[in-house]
Amino acid sequence: MDSHALTYLFASLGTAATAAALVKLGQRLQLSRAKHASLAGHPRWAKRIAGLIPFYEFDAERFFSSDGAPGDVAARRRAGFETLAQQYRDRFGRTIALNVDLREALSDLQFTEAYRVPYQYSRRVREHLGSSPLLQSSCGVEVSDIDGNQFYDLAGSYGVNLFGYDFYKRCIERGAARVAELGPVLGAYHPVIAYNARRLREISRLDEVSFHMSGTEAVMQAVGLARYHTGRRKVVRFCGAYHGWWGDVQPGIGNPAPAADSYTLADMSEASLRVLRRRRDIACVLVNPLQALHPNASAPADSALVDGARRACFQRTAYADWLRRLREVCTERGIALIFDEVFVGFRLAPGGAQDYFGVRADLVTYGKTLGGGLPVGVVCGRRHFMRRFRQDRPADVCFARGTFNSHPYVMGAMCEFLEQLETPAVQALYANLEQTWNDRANALNQRLADGGLPLRVANLSSIWTVYYTEPSRYHWMLQYYLRSQGLALSWVGTGRLIFSLNYAEADFAAVADRFVAAAQAMRRDGWWWVADPSTQPRTNIKRQVLKEILQHWSRRLLSVATANKSMRGTAPACTPTGGPPQGARSEAIVGSISSPRSRNTGDL
Ligand SMILES: Cc1ncc(COP(=O)(O)O)c(C=O)c1O
Repeated sequence: MDSHALTYLFASLGTAATAAALVKLGQRLQLSRAKHASLAGHPRWAKRIAGLIPFYEFDAERFFSSDGAPGDVAARRRAGFETLAQQYRDRFGRTIALNVDLREALSDLQFTEAYRVPYQYSRRVREHLGSSPLLQSSCGVEVSDIDGNQFYDLAGSYGVNLFGYDFYKRCIERGAARVAELGPVLGAYHPVIAYNARRLREISRLDEVSFHMSGTEAVMQAVGLARYHTGRRKVVRFCGAYHGWWGDVQPGIGNPAPAADSYTLADMSEASLRVLRRRRDIACVLVNPLQALHPNASAPADSALVDGARRACFQRTAYADWLRRLREVCTERGIALIFDEVFVGFRLAPGGAQDYFGVRADLVTYGKTLGGGLPVGVVCGRRHFMRRFRQDRPADVCFARGTFNSHPYVMGAMCEFLEQLETPAVQALYANLEQTWNDRANALNQRLADGGLPLRVANLSSIWTVYYTEPSRYHWMLQYYLRSQGLALSWVGTGRLIFSLNYAEADFAAVADRFVAAAQAMRRDGWWWVADPSTQPRTNIKRQVLKEILQHWSRRLLSVATANKSMRGTAPACTPTGGPPQGARSEAIVGSISSPRSRNTGDL
């Protein structure tokens, strides 16, 4: 080869390499643009930043005035808190006592208790307003605790409770009777499975069904099948959406491992559609239709009410349009469209979100309520996606088996659930469903507005969230006033209220009265004091929190430097507890958020 030819070859190679690099860079930029601008859209950064947030907590004084409230307001808050704490001690004595022992043993309980409210306030709230998840009984739309207190249930068993607890008690009892002769024989199937499979095919209008133990497992299976059949690795999920606690669908905070195979894109965004159109590595798109209530935002827990911000607004037509466009792109690009209906399935309509929004998916996951009160996860899908082996390559399989899959007792309860779904009594619950819950939300909002209270509710049918119209660092206190009014919420607090469809008008009216009474008490006790909303926007609160964090870090650096200096000058002195320096203010650091060391700052 002469030198001209060599030069030509190298030039061509260089041009090709540059072109390839430019294409890659273009795709990278497109992907970056398709992520939501918030941290929820950037799980890796969110995780890095979360690792830097230090633990600090407020002493008795700052607890009541962390927003700069004047002395008289702080005193009102303190008095309100003490009254509430006394009420809790009087009414929930046995519950609280049992909870103390249980807490030592149950790591799950430790976690949920620590994350009920923003961590700066958490320990004091836990000590004085200890709420416990211990309950004794359920009946109608109410649950009772071990002290005999009755509550309207707004927790909804994480969405399982769609038709009322008595309904599920019957499903479990009758379902168990159906399969009792076989008992817990696993691996084989009880014949009721045939009815379940047939009904699920009809409901989902998909070809095949597989049974699993939880919603998380169903999602794992659906994603695994999509990867197997497309030969691609990447999973697209939308910003803020929950799909269970499995790593690949929960990148970022909460997942100790990096989830390298998922892209978190912005919901309802043109840029995301462009990424789906261009990339060749995407196996599936996961949609949790519950996100329609708060697109691009995470599950709205009270612990995240740092600056009081929480947005929610459901627009059915706009979300249906988005799903239709997603459907088109996925069909065009051979990407599996998965609707994760573990939460909303059967809640929005008997045919689920597919029917409600008028869009069909390739794979649909169900769970929660479908088990008739017992644990379950289900995948329904098009035949092409559901096959776990290849006829032409017998060793190439997509393995998924579980000891308890298709457990006879679960199949029995599910069979009852599905049979009941067809009865006129249950069908009647779906009549006017959306209108009923929209009317109830509007009526409550009207009362809140008339009362000049700074909160409203937004809803997706019977799934509600509370949002706040003015900035405050104390909105999370509302959950404790609601409890004192006899309203039971889950550990995420006011972010999610879940109603069962057996709430009659009178039940709802009682809930609305109590809700308004709780909000009035909260206002009376001064928690919603704002100097002037126009001069005290939410950004002020954010700035204040940032200042606290920086103050903490500078104190910490200073104490490390002082300790180093004294170690150089004197013999090492050991402190057995390793606690904060004497005289340090109590909002000083007492560990990191991931390993907080508890410190007793005394009573109120
Ligand atoms: C949409 C969605 N997918 C999956 C899951 C996980 O289900 P499970 O808790 O049964 O594992 C949940 C649970 O809340 C969910 O809401």
